[in-house]
Amino acid sequence: MSKGLNILFCTSEVTPYSKTGGLADVSNSLPQELAAAGHAVRIITPKYGPMDERRLRVYEIKRLVNIEVPVADRITTCNIKSSFIVSPKGKVQVFLIENNEYFRENSPYVDEKTGKDYENNDERFIFFNRAIVQVLGLLGWKPDIIHCNDWQTGLIPAYIKTIYAKDPLLQNVKSVFTIHNIAFQGLFPYESFLKSGLPHNIWNEEGVEYYNQFSFLKTAIVYSDAITTVSENYAREIATTHEYGMGFEGLLKTRKKDLFGILNGVDYSVWNPEKDNLIPFRYNAMELPLKRENKKVLCKKFGIEYNSETPLIGIISRLTDQKGFDLIKKIMPDLMKENVNFILLGTGDKNYQKFFEGIKKKFPKKVGLHFGFSEELAHLIEAGSDIFLMPSKYEPCGLNQMYSLKYGTIPVVRKTGGLADTITEYKNGKGNGFTFDKYDASELMKAVKKALKLYKNREEWIKLIRNAMSYDYSWQVSARKYIDLYKTLLKKS
Ligand code: ADP
Ligand code: GLC
Repeated sequence: MSKGLNILFCTSEVTPYSKTGGLADVSNSLPQELAAAGHAVRIITPKYGPMDERRLRVYEIKRLVNIEVPVADRITTCNIKSSFIVSPKGKVQVFLIENNEYFRENSPYVDEKTGKDYENNDERFIFFNRAIVQVLGLLGWKPDIIHCNDWQTGLIPAYIKTIYAKDPLLQNVKSVFTIHNIAFQGLFPYESFLKSGLPHNIWNEEGVEYYNQFSFLKTAIVYSDAITTVSENYAREIATTHEYGMGFEGLLKTRKKDLFGILNGVDYSVWNPEKDNLIPFRYNAMELPLKRENKKVLCKKFGIEYNSETPLIGIISRLTDQKGFDLIKKIMPDLMKENVNFILLGTGDKNYQKFFEGIKKKFPKKVGLHFGFSEELAHLIEAGSDIFLMPSKYEPCGLNQMYSLKYGTIPVVRKTGGLADTITEYKNGKGNGFTFDKYDASELMKAVKKALKLYKNREEWIKLIRNAMSYDYSWQVSARKYIDLYKTLLKKS
């Protein structure tokens, strides 16, 4: 058997320690799958806020305290704590970087008092990136691959190739950078570049400068050995159009032979209605009446009148334009005329919250809302809803539509990014959901109406549910692709 690789997985969020979206799920499940395939994977992430260290089993490492990290013109210090993600697949060690100046709050990126990004996000993540390269030497472990994710880890590939290039532990190391969302570009002024300590000769168009600004995302795209993104379709979209590339399409084109689309997978030990401890009635494709029992509980929880003839639409989402909320807003008055109920779980844009609160006031028995983050409700909504709505403007991968399939909750999605790669229109007994192309409210309404119409035909609907539940998007295939990529890079030396 060939020797396994040493992989350091750098991420700004990972469940169960922190989560704002899908990156946290991927950062938990991909490393586990890589470890199950025989590789030594370690995750490194910030330790945000006062964490329940007992419950999460986070421990001090005596020799990893007061580690010095240069940021701007000063030296700051951090402690590295250790924890393990343990599952039937195996054990992955997690290093949590503790620094009470930068990571004092629980919220990873946004200051909850103002609802805006922290003003010192440049320093917070310069610190995080630099701390990772600084502590490597102290871990007594030489990685073969450093796998970075999104702009918050974007400086690492540049550190490796510049000021840390001579570090013995970094010789022959290869960096992979995964784009989970190109809209987040880590853009800061020139002064932030100075704080990074990167050499001045890379402040130019070929280097890290992006229209007079310092971009963590650009830095990563320029300096990493390979770039991946989370679906094949999104890889194509971002490298070919301005609409999806959001200014980076030109740069990505120049790195086309190093850009790969690898679809995210689902951790079916967490998202599986047959084993889900967070739902009251566990079920499989042959026990669909139990899905209805979940629907009853869900309706009751949200004060909605349960009726088996009335389909229930669920949404679990960040409340942002990305997710198509302007379209949902537009169809809401028409949707409320239909025989349908609607439940939304989300956090984000206060204007959308206000809008939905207004709708709830008008239709208290048809609409249920919860603004906040709740893992438990997310599982119950997946289990109890009939239809899952995801009309995204763009969607690098999207996990919720894949979770929905497993729960027999039929996705209605816009054909974009990973949604187009995972959801196919139900027709003549084949397919797993409903789709529409053009980003337009009436197109969305048409797709929803197709779902509502089919719902009336119980036999067909059950057939569709069973199709949906039979799809398998587990990590194995995708993890294999990452491993092949790592190995190809290491051969290049
Ligand atoms: P994105 O990462 O763009 O937000 P994904 O579909 O990839 O979209 O992943 C979203 C993840 O975040 C899913 O696991 C989803 O269940 C979860 N999620 C989003 N909003 C909430 C919320 N308010 N409460 C609980 N989970 C949420
Ligand atoms: C991002 C994307 C989402 C993707 C997730 C995990 O948040 O918006 O589409 O599923 O990252 O890769």
